[in-house]
Amino acid sequence: MSVKKIIVLFSGNGTNLENIIKKLDKKNIDGTIFQISGAICNNKNAKGINICKKYNIPLTILEHQNYKNREDYDKELVKIINSYNPNLTVLAGFMRILTPVFTNNIKAINIHPSLLPLFKGVFAIKESFQSDMKVGGVTVHFVNNELDGGKIILQECFQKEENETLESFAQKIHLLEHKLLIQAIIKILNHPIKNSDTAPDFV
Ligand code: GAR
Repeated sequence: MSVKKIIVLFSGNGTNLENIIKKLDKKNIDGTIFQISGAICNNKNAKGINICKKYNIPLTILEHQNYKNREDYDKELVKIINSYNPNLTVLAGFMRILTPVFTNNIKAINIHPSLLPLFKGVFAIKESFQSDMKVGGVTVHFVNNELDGGKIILQECFQKEENETLESFAQKIHLLEHKLLIQAIIKILNHPIKNSDTAPDFV
């Protein structure tokens, strides 16, 4: 029986964080026990902070305003993550551009609300909703030096209906995110990978 430790990084509502805790924390899946060892948030007003309190997940609030540049912030972030010695770090709505200080040292995955490589960045939901595309989608990918640019692990799309509103579109995205992120975490942790940017044979 092996235990796999996960750290979750978030900035806002934390619905993905809550879903990860509910579906994976202390659960035995195919002989692997998943443990959400801690969470880190860069925003002291994030709603997700209450989720950590509710489920007793150790939380560090690391405000970027207190650091003079991205590298210094990432150095501290890496130090905190490494103190947990996790098997995987999950970016679940962590809205920061990361430097090589982070990406060269931490094996991490990210959830993004579009069919990458389309609609990178913070306005992905609105931009994909407003586009001519007939589908929307969600991507889970490894984190590398390029924003929303690492190797894709899982990706799924859904139909954009004729009468779709931004709200209904966003709702479909969040539902799909909750499913896909869990699948990706299980897939990765049950198939060890040494380097986050090599091509794992299960992808
Ligand atoms: C999610 O929609 C996630 O895909 C997005 O932030 C939201 C966080 O929601 N992330 C990005 O856009 C990263 N580029 P949550 O706080 O409710 O989990």
